[in-house]
Amino acid sequence: MSTATATAAALASNSESLYTEHVNPQWVSLLEVLGMKVRYERCEGVELHTADGGAILDFLSGYCVHNAGYNHPAIVSAIRAELDRRGPGMLQSHVPELAGELAAALCERAGGSLSKVFFASSGSEAVESAIKFSRAHTKRSGLLSASGAFHGLTLGSLSLMDDPFWRGNFGPFLEGCETVPFADLAALEQRLATRRFAAFLVEPLQAEAGIRVPPPGYLRAAHELCRKYGTVFVLDEVQTGMYRTGPFLAAHHDHASADIVVLAKALSGGLIPVSATLMTDEIYRAVFGSLKRSIVHASTFSENPLSMRAGLAALETLEVEELGPRATERGEYLRERLAESLSGYEMVKEIRGLGLLNGIEFQPPKKVALRVPFQTFHAIHPAMFGQVVVMRLFRDHGILAQICGNHFHTLKCAPPLIITEEQLDRFVDALTSVVELMHTSPLFWTEALGMARRVVNI
Ligand SMILES: Cc1ncc(COP(=O)(O)O)c(C=O)c1O
Repeated sequence: MSTATATAAALASNSESLYTEHVNPQWVSLLEVLGMKVRYERCEGVELHTADGGAILDFLSGYCVHNAGYNHPAIVSAIRAELDRRGPGMLQSHVPELAGELAAALCERAGGSLSKVFFASSGSEAVESAIKFSRAHTKRSGLLSASGAFHGLTLGSLSLMDDPFWRGNFGPFLEGCETVPFADLAALEQRLATRRFAAFLVEPLQAEAGIRVPPPGYLRAAHELCRKYGTVFVLDEVQTGMYRTGPFLAAHHDHASADIVVLAKALSGGLIPVSATLMTDEIYRAVFGSLKRSIVHASTFSENPLSMRAGLAALETLEVEELGPRATERGEYLRERLAESLSGYEMVKEIRGLGLLNGIEFQPPKKVALRVPFQTFHAIHPAMFGQVVVMRLFRDHGILAQICGNHFHTLKCAPPLIITEEQLDRFVDALTSVVELMHTSPLFWTEALGMARRVVNI
């Protein structure tokens, strides 16, 4: 090891101890248990290069942040140029022109009658904005969302989610929040008919709930019902937007429009925090209706030039490289290959998705020899089985993936949209080999027990 490498390793190890001491020791322990505590040195495109000279193939995209790939040179250089310009960032007393450019570009692509944008820094904040604007517009307080949804972890956003794992110990939540089953129009109409709800918030494809794709027509019909009962129809496209599923918005598969659309994650190319709440002029005016109220909803880093520049560069990159059509085409290829390769295995229940947001759902085996260990793991922790799949992919095949946050038996497959067919083949082969192992080798299950023991000991 050269002196420079040894010094870099020592500094990194010190920073890791500081992280453990001052930020989140449990996270460090979890990565250790999963065998995923690796030091990354350089991330480019789909590849994550580690300090020990290895390369991991990314099938997570930081939960749909890196649609254009990690550190895309065009986005990096646009941000660098913006910094070098020394422009008026966060002056808070001027017209931030780049925000105008980005807002216009987003509204044009989102379509429908969306014409105004409120910018913030995270998806949760954008959902919070959707809540405030909807309440102001309708003068109602109730909020309706779909069961199993993920909308973010600030208190307002969390109030829209029904999964006890995320909610535990954090109540009380916003009053008047209710959920209806996803893709159930009858249940939706029944609740909307009470005319108590300011907004119905829904993901066009529920990502963390297990890559749940609604039937064709659902989103359009849901919007229609919302119109009928005076409720604002809000689409949370935080994970699904920015060409992740093919079109600019996942709702465009269904030719659906909305009164509010929420974007974040890939909006800045994964480099600067930014989110956007797109809405109709009428809804916007309910909050910013007079000079007196021109700053009544605001956030310090909203409209900052680095985020706006990154957003414009990300849009341009995704479009110049035609990553939307590529997501459609590669997604079809991936699902076909996965179906071919995994269809004979009893624990593989379904392969589904849109574009490059896909899920492979596993189910309990019927064979007694497999069912017993499967149920044992489930009893230890419902995520245990999925995490062993993730760990095996990572350790044995150099592939980073994750299970869905609210559906532990579904493995998510969401690589950067620049992924090649060869890299998709690598994923299919790796997953097939892990699936083969779980059906045939006791080692797969004993390994999981080892992990369970380590969890208990922490
Ligand atoms: C659909 C959806 N909405 C909202 C959020 C919250 O975004 P953030 O983590 O940026 O607050 C997420 C985050 O994963 C998400 O997937």
